[in-house]
Amino acid sequence: MSGNMVGEGNPLMGEHLPFEERHSPSLEAYLDYYLRSVEDPERFWDEKARELVWLRYWDRVLDEDNPPFYRWFRGGVTNINLNALDRWAGTSVANRVAYYWEGEPGDTRTISYGELYREVNRFAWALRELVGVREGDTVTIYLPMIPELPVSMLAVTRLGAIHSVVFSGFSAAALADRIVDAGAKVLVTADGFYRRGRVVELKKAADEAVRIAADRGVEVEKVVVVRRAGVEVNWVEGRDHWYHELLAEAPGKAYVKPVPRKADDVLFILYTSGTTGRPKGIMHSVGGYMTYVYHVFRWNWDPRPEDVFWCAADIGWITGHTYIVYGPLMHGVAQVMYEGAPDHPDPGRIWSMVEKYGVTTFYTSPTLLRLLLRYGDRWVEKHDLSSLRLLGTVGEPINPEVWKWYYTRIGRSRAPIVDTWWQTETGAAMISPAPGIALVPLKPGSATLPLPGIVADVVTHEGRQAETGEKGLLVIKRPWPGMLMGIWGDPQRYVRTYWERFSDPEKGVWIYYPADYAVRDRDGYFWLLGRADEVMNVAGHRLGTIEVEDAVVAHPAVSEAAVVGAPHPVKGEVPVAAVVLREGYKPGPELEEDIRNTVRRLIGPIAVPAKVLFVRKLPKTRSGKIMRRILIALLRGQPIGDTSTLEDPAAVEEVRKAVEEYKRAVEGLEL
Ligand code: PRX
Repeated sequence: MSGNMVGEGNPLMGEHLPFEERHSPSLEAYLDYYLRSVEDPERFWDEKARELVWLRYWDRVLDEDNPPFYRWFRGGVTNINLNALDRWAGTSVANRVAYYWEGEPGDTRTISYGELYREVNRFAWALRELVGVREGDTVTIYLPMIPELPVSMLAVTRLGAIHSVVFSGFSAAALADRIVDAGAKVLVTADGFYRRGRVVELKKAADEAVRIAADRGVEVEKVVVVRRAGVEVNWVEGRDHWYHELLAEAPGKAYVKPVPRKADDVLFILYTSGTTGRPKGIMHSVGGYMTYVYHVFRWNWDPRPEDVFWCAADIGWITGHTYIVYGPLMHGVAQVMYEGAPDHPDPGRIWSMVEKYGVTTFYTSPTLLRLLLRYGDRWVEKHDLSSLRLLGTVGEPINPEVWKWYYTRIGRSRAPIVDTWWQTETGAAMISPAPGIALVPLKPGSATLPLPGIVADVVTHEGRQAETGEKGLLVIKRPWPGMLMGIWGDPQRYVRTYWERFSDPEKGVWIYYPADYAVRDRDGYFWLLGRADEVMNVAGHRLGTIEVEDAVVAHPAVSEAAVVGAPHPVKGEVPVAAVVLREGYKPGPELEEDIRNTVRRLIGPIAVPAKVLFVRKLPKTRSGKIMRRILIALLRGQPIGDTSTLEDPAAVEEVRKAVEEYKRAVEGLEL
């Protein structure tokens, strides 16, 4: 495999990047701001929160009475709509573009802040009056990247209800799991959408999910359907409602007063993968999330009235919640929003849109950059990218080679790269440059330093502070407003997953554990080195190995399976499954495809194993635990380490042979 794989940058070698004079990076100016933020964090956040619109200020900035259930701005009352929409009504921002939306086929819509405000009000009115959504209800939103997605989210939060957005690439079964867990009675979806020139029939999957949920005791009473693709859909009278018909019933000037919400109410749930088969519903708070996202957006992107911001993510993930919906809207920034595949109809799509809309700030994942880099510079050179002034990346470690390509070819060595490390759980970026405060010198491959108010460190497995250059585990040592409130319906899992690893409750020490490897270099810069738990990072998306294993084992031919993340030159990691078949089944390409289809059906395309390796035995300990780390080591070409607990060494040889097969298969893909 080439030297371009993720995580290959050597932190101790990382040199500061010489910037043109006009960026004048200043570590001192940044540290000055940072140090003040952590000296008295409560005062800091108190001041920061006051920059937003509240209906009532808080009694306490941070309630630490019941750690790790921290509650921010207790006593405060607000509604995020007040800051994302209502504050712009009657100002010049109302006439500013909120979204330049482009469909994959090339159709467009331009929506101003004023229009967004009116549409949100009308949909909120319809949801309340016709659909019956009430404060505290959970509404599941299963929509593609169309303007009705942010409209629905804002309408739901306007009513004081909680949204649970499910990525439109998830399957019916995955959607059903999330509907059931959240107990949602209302689902907002679309007839279909465009992806690589084809229509994906979303309503079909939604219908199927509603049926599965009903079998499991959760009855979805109302389904709202946006007409996007114009395809035939199955219709259940009384249950299903067209979005456009609901809107038509709402008074033209409908106004729905934003429902006052407590700062520590739940704003939304977003499911993410963990180390068990069951995805967890991460809960974000009304006041804390709002405050943190508002400021981090400003620190990251230094927004200006003339900006055109484009976060090329999907709103179905946290990046889209924070950087396509709430963050930019709270700053009145104009955005680009795109429905389809980044390389459709050709690999110049993204760059042609940057040129067409005059994008100033572009934020994406290393996976997308690796894909576009592979298509070659001729697609870049065709377009005038001189409007770009800031570039961002998120979701996975960025290899220095890709960083440098992004910096020189896309940003013409003039746009700093804002590498943002964060998670679904953290609400917004935690470790990243902050050109909105003061740009620090950059190093290709490092997310640089913690943002204001964030106290991060690297510790060894035993919890001792790691030395400079010593690989360890990232920890966050103080609560921050954007932190998750917990896991929907499972407080114990919240404590176990994030807090038990390094906390010492007896001593009152609570430490947040993100499960990421990291190292700090001699300048104190953080280098994020990938997940430290059984979670894969596929194309910047989190995927639990056990979740995929459960799906593989659901195939009738499979007796046992081990799924791990294998290095992949574009996607960073891809799931690879080593499978032992039941008696009577023969390995072969058809069965492989059939197993892959089972995963597609149970989770969705992103989880489909790049390769199914048929083996007669899996490496196990004598007590029967599958040793995934052996498979991982073989796939990465690393030493397999201690095998003294291995039950049968022959299993390693089995897997080794199968792994060679995978490696041959991806060789053609090298960068
Ligand atoms: O491993 C880290 C990786 O993505 C994980 C979080 O995934 P998710 O909750 O899906 O959120 C992705 C978008 C925020 C982290 O635990 N990760 C995220 N950003 C970076 C990163 N790894 C390295 N560098 C980053 N900038």
